[in-house]
Amino acid sequence: MSIAIALDGPAGAGKSSIAKRVAKALDYIYVDTGALYRAIGLAASRRGVEPAPSPEVDALLGSITVDLAFNESGEQVVLLDGEDVSGEIRTPEASMTASKISAVPAVRAYLLDLQRSMAKTHNVIMDGRDIGTVVLPDAQVKIFLTASPEARAERRCKELLEKGMDVNYEDVLRDVITRDYNDSHREIAPLKPAEDSVTVDTTELDFEQSVEAIISVIKEHL
Ligand code: DC
Repeated sequence: MSIAIALDGPAGAGKSSIAKRVAKALDYIYVDTGALYRAIGLAASRRGVEPAPSPEVDALLGSITVDLAFNESGEQVVLLDGEDVSGEIRTPEASMTASKISAVPAVRAYLLDLQRSMAKTHNVIMDGRDIGTVVLPDAQVKIFLTASPEARAERRCKELLEKGMDVNYEDVLRDVITRDYNDSHREIAPLKPAEDSVTVDTTELDFEQSVEAIISVIKEHL
């Protein structure tokens, strides 16, 4: 049987960079479920479809393919209709659209099977918002990774500036708080710790300390 590690938590807690490193250390596959929601958000933006429940979103879902794959450098990429959109889905606008479209029940249903099928065939560390509560309720290890909104905004801001984007701390902090609110107040699969999850707070931890904390939780539980 394959092993699943669910890593949930709010935007900017460091889930993806930590999960990538942990996956490498354990030889698991890292699955970035946020990238799937982002790709659907991008598809909606490109076609001028509002990120809200509607027949247009249903039609959109029926006419696109979304998948995760690996490029020649071994990096995970997200494919929208076969096109690598990994760069395009990382802008602040794409983050906000992803957060809105992820509240649409049809979108969550569409991605559920895809996420579960990835965990059936591989040992995975899967990062998202509802992995431990909805997608993989039987995951052997469930971690809720969090940090203060200010610490998360600071890290996100640094990341975006390093990518050459024109952002400032106040805007990023406001976006973090808005996304937290959207993600944890939606009716379907809201962001919340699974009852049997272990919470790790990285506000006072640097990257290496966070990786160590996660690996030790995993070792304790496997
Ligand atoms: O992890 P991320 O910031 O790339 O995710 C983008 C958005 O997708 C986020 O605001 C909430 C949504 N999301 C979700 O609802 N469920 C998941 N499992 C992963 C992401």
